[in-house]
Amino acid sequence: MCAKTAADFHDELGHKLTVISLFSNIVKQSLGEDSKLSTHLTKVIDTSNSLYLSMKDLLWVLDPNKDSLHDMALMLKDFGDQLFDKSGVAFRTDGITDNMKGYNLGMDHKRHIALIFKEVMNNAMKHAKCQNTDLHFEWHEIEKHVVILFHDDGKGFDPKNTGSSGNGLINLQDRANQVGGRIEFISGEEGKKGSTVKFEVTFTHLLPQKQNFVEKVFDKLEKWFVWEEK
Ligand SMILES: Nc1ncnc2c1ncn2[C@@H]1O[C@H](COP(=O)(O)OP(=O)(O)OP(=O)(O)O)[C@@H](O)[C@H]1O
Ligand SMILES: [Mg+2]
Repeated sequence: MCAKTAADFHDELGHKLTVISLFSNIVKQSLGEDSKLSTHLTKVIDTSNSLYLSMKDLLWVLDPNKDSLHDMALMLKDFGDQLFDKSGVAFRTDGITDNMKGYNLGMDHKRHIALIFKEVMNNAMKHAKCQNTDLHFEWHEIEKHVVILFHDDGKGFDPKNTGSSGNGLINLQDRANQVGGRIEFISGEEGKKGSTVKFEVTFTHLLPQKQNFVEKVFDKLEKWFVWEEK
């Protein structure tokens, strides 16, 4: 999907979902809280709100203008800011640098790495009982190697012995494998409370942004060609 289509889709669908939510709220208010229909309308409103958020996430993944390591790091920073906002848990980020802008991660790497750290942050929020969290990036440009660490100062956990039937940790491992990366769970470090999730990968496929420009030109040519044929 090209950037323009993604933006149009976002604006069109976003606008329509806002209308659904707005009118459902008006109907709900005029029915009053006691009405049986009010519960159903709350469901409509919640579903359209969550559909809007899912759509935003999906469009972010598909948007070729948001493909760099820098874009991904900023998205995770925004996600953490929103997740921990007003939760009483402090969230800090460091290591997001300008030289992360130069390369195109590609859709699959971007999606898997983003989903790994969304789950890790959600887990900290749900299970850790922590007060402080840190998201730390290290980008080794020459080696094309990235290390991402997320630390919480909560109760810590042993990934082999959680007693949970959840899928989150299994999916993390699976996503790390899919991008050729490595994930590690560290708890009980001396002098350090809580847990750290460490992910690292060496990118073997990174495209310099220059090449991305060439792709864009080809994209345009392809469109003209299709248009000529009609
Ligand atoms: N940061 C953390 N601090 C403390 N415990 C954790 C942390 N992250 C995970 N856990 C423990 O590991 C378990 C397994 O996590 P996992 O993400 O697989 O499942 P879940 O979060 O319970 O469910 P799901 O992710 O499927 O919604 C959790 O139930 C929790 O006990
Ligand atoms: Mg989980």
